[in-house]
Amino acid sequence: MSINVPRGTKDLLPGETEKWQAVEELIRDTCRLFQYKEIRTPIFEHTELFTRSVGDTTDIVQKEMYTFTDRGDRSLTLRPEGTAPVVRSFVENKLFGLPNQPVKLYYTGPMFRYERQQAGRYRQFVQFGVEAIGSKDPSIDAEVMALAMSVYKKAGLKKIKLVINSLGDTESRQAHRVALSAHFSPHIQEFCSDCQNRLEKNPLRILDCKVDRENPLMATAPKLPDYLNEESAAYFAKVKHYLDILNIKYEVDPNLVRGLDYYNHTAFEIMSEGEGFGAITTLAGGGRYNGLVEDLGGPESPGIGFGMSIERLLLALEAEGEEFKNLPTLDVYVVAMGEAAKDKAVSFVSQLRQNNVSAEMDYLDRKIKAQMKSADRLNAKFSVVIGDNELESGKISLKYLANGNQQQLTFEEIVENFTKIATKATEELA
Ligand code: HAM
Repeated sequence: MSINVPRGTKDLLPGETEKWQAVEELIRDTCRLFQYKEIRTPIFEHTELFTRSVGDTTDIVQKEMYTFTDRGDRSLTLRPEGTAPVVRSFVENKLFGLPNQPVKLYYTGPMFRYERQQAGRYRQFVQFGVEAIGSKDPSIDAEVMALAMSVYKKAGLKKIKLVINSLGDTESRQAHRVALSAHFSPHIQEFCSDCQNRLEKNPLRILDCKVDRENPLMATAPKLPDYLNEESAAYFAKVKHYLDILNIKYEVDPNLVRGLDYYNHTAFEIMSEGEGFGAITTLAGGGRYNGLVEDLGGPESPGIGFGMSIERLLLALEAEGEEFKNLPTLDVYVVAMGEAAKDKAVSFVSQLRQNNVSAEMDYLDRKIKAQMKSADRLNAKFSVVIGDNELESGKISLKYLANGNQQQLTFEEIVENFTKIATKATEELA
């Protein structure tokens, strides 16, 4: 009996991993431009971290966590998201004491949620996220959204939209909560048992219930923006003002509440509008979480961030028919005929690689035709053939495979001038 990957997970194979690397590079470059620094936290954390921050009435905590007891009888959880671990680390390592505030961090790594598998939804997925902690300046809300949009745009996505809302401060949320309770209470028997529980503990969570989504009371529920106090409304207006300055288009959706408890004020999602993307259209989600650092034992340090899965970014690119440009290719394929030529090929390939030229050769003693086929299949830019004549003259013909042009050069000339030769060949082609 063969063993397959667990449901909701997948292998990333060569062909696919190059795209991942390209996206990861794009992420690193963008974070450098925006001055976010990388943080790496463990894959598992104490379970309590997530119940306290994400919230014990959320779907993530109630239904989706991979929680286990280790041999020391501790309850640990594979991280379902990145914000709580980053905030935990921010407090534990006293990053609030760093001279440069806010602390701007980013991460990429696997997250785990026990969800029903479908296109764009996995049990292990890789999230890229950023967290800016230590400022409640609305311009940083706009910056964080700009960063997310910039990654998508640079990756080549065109059909995306930014949707924003304000969840308000504690006072506004409390007013909304009272209104929600009054709205749902008389009919709560029509809702699932989770929602019945949520009515008491956290009625906002009823709004993202997947079971009762179609209940007409959902659409008529009191909307957050109607309950914003003056200060919260002014904050939201400022966020929109900075988005306007940055020339970033957005839609305000009063129904956007997000599925995690730590949010207040700004909440946002980036959606794909590409056809054929399937049922799940949210590419990224984020928002402000003033108070979370305090809840986890730190001093007052307001934060904002987002998370996006790389899987969904790649799916969206595919849906828009976008091809990856500049994926790494092979520079030179070295074909060898005979034992002596093979010796030369081994050392030539090695010299090329030492000079930062990617090179490949045959390891199966195949005939010249089969070796040439490999060069094609590997998408090599150039090929060379080494035989007795080449060994004797010390000159080989370097063939540019895009147009078949050949030039006679010595081995050393190729190794030393490869970049120049390659640039010229590409220019001639254009
Ligand atoms: P979230 O909305 O739960 O927020 O997830 C953010 C993103 O992670 C989603 O928009 C999606 O791209 C991806 N994602 C979530 N679940 C899955 C899944 N099962 N399969 C594939 N991709 C998935 C958070 O996680 C917050 N920590 C974001 C944040 C950071 N807020 C502030 N800072």
